[in-house]
Amino acid sequence: MTSYAAFIGHQPALSTVEIAALLPDFSLRKQYKDVVIFDTSLSLNQEFLDLLGGTIALARSVTEQSIELQDVPALLANELKGGKRSKVVFSLRSSGVSPRQLHGLYRACKQFLKRQGQPSRYVGTERKAASAVVLHEHDMLNGKRNAELALITDPETGDIWVGRTVGAQDVDAYSKRDIEKPVRDTTVGLLPPKLAQALLNLGVFAVRTRQQKAAKQTAKFTLPVLTVLDPFCGTGVIPMECLLRSWDVLASDASQKAVNGCTKNLDWLRKERKIAKKDATSDVWKQDALTPFALKKLPDIVVTETTLGPPLEKRPTLKDVQKLRTENDALQVAFLQNAAATLPGVPLVCTYPVWYSSKQPEFLRRVWDEAAKIGYSPALPVEPPETTERISLLYRRPGQFVGREIVVWMPAQ
Ligand SMILES: C[S@@+](CC[C@H](N)C(=O)[O-])C[C@H]1O[C@@H](n2cnc3c(N)ncnc32)[C@H](O)[C@@H]1O
Repeated sequence: MTSYAAFIGHQPALSTVEIAALLPDFSLRKQYKDVVIFDTSLSLNQEFLDLLGGTIALARSVTEQSIELQDVPALLANELKGGKRSKVVFSLRSSGVSPRQLHGLYRACKQFLKRQGQPSRYVGTERKAASAVVLHEHDMLNGKRNAELALITDPETGDIWVGRTVGAQDVDAYSKRDIEKPVRDTTVGLLPPKLAQALLNLGVFAVRTRQQKAAKQTAKFTLPVLTVLDPFCGTGVIPMECLLRSWDVLASDASQKAVNGCTKNLDWLRKERKIAKKDATSDVWKQDALTPFALKKLPDIVVTETTLGPPLEKRPTLKDVQKLRTENDALQVAFLQNAAATLPGVPLVCTYPVWYSSKQPEFLRRVWDEAAKIGYSPALPVEPPETTERISLLYRRPGQFVGREIVVWMPAQ
């Protein structure tokens, strides 16, 4: 087993669970607010990080021995493959290390390398780690010549974990596909592509659990190839993420406007990213998700952001919530019944609305009571670090009156 550290974003529970969802032998070591340290036997790299919505950078351990900060320059020198004539480029990324300590470390590293006759340059600052663009530009992630070290100090024990960064998130690529796509519909709520990725990763877990297939013994992480159905596709954020991982996708929506928008967005993505139909198929049609699905072949998984209800301009009262909840619960129950009847044996990854009327989040209720009778039980790959008091995850952006509850429904039969 090798240990890895994932530097995670503002949804720590979801970020941790989506990693566990992709790795059959995931074993959690430490969970901090901004970092999760875990073990796996699989070799992970930039390609793996590109699948994750919630991880900003991923580092692989370089030593399991206990170290002090003064050991860092030698460890760094070990990772760099320099030549005396030209400068090597390095950077440090950290958690639990003060900017002052980090500043001292940069200098110590530079001096150490200089004494070895190796000129060097560091990128990033003691307050902000180097951006993904800079790391890629200087070839710092592929083990060839330059490197970034990641240092994590345990606030309780003072133990230091040290690794080499092997992947960094390309933030610009997300904004490009989110903002530049031709059709956006702010009236139905905008699903961030990163959240769509996390939902698909939960889908990988659900399919693996359902098929009870031991993952193939490989040294390198490999992504299974799946066919996904999104029956509330809207403008197609989930279908777009499917195409980006070369998965076949089936998408439907009750609204013709959504069907047109999703089709346009998928066509745009195919052109932008040169995704040929022979590599990943897509089929988009109009259908009420409460009416029977008549598919030639069942999908492996349903991944969908079901309707959140009307957008809210202001904080809803408890009375508002009761009305919204009754309507939404009825739709969700009818959808589960339809899925059980016409998509038998297919697991579902769904998001449900969560209303914030006061401090207490207000969840759907009836669908949770009825699910077992319909034939579904909830599942997650690991117990999340913070829970919704049931087997689900929460996603909410600050200030939103409607958040999302994420649930993986496993069919009973
Ligand atoms: C929250 S939006 C999904 C947004 C989507 N994830 C996107 O990328 O744009 C919910 C969608 O469900 C659709 N919808 C609502 N009720 C439906 C039903 N009964 N059957 C199918 N689609 C429905 C709406 O038209 C809307 O496009």
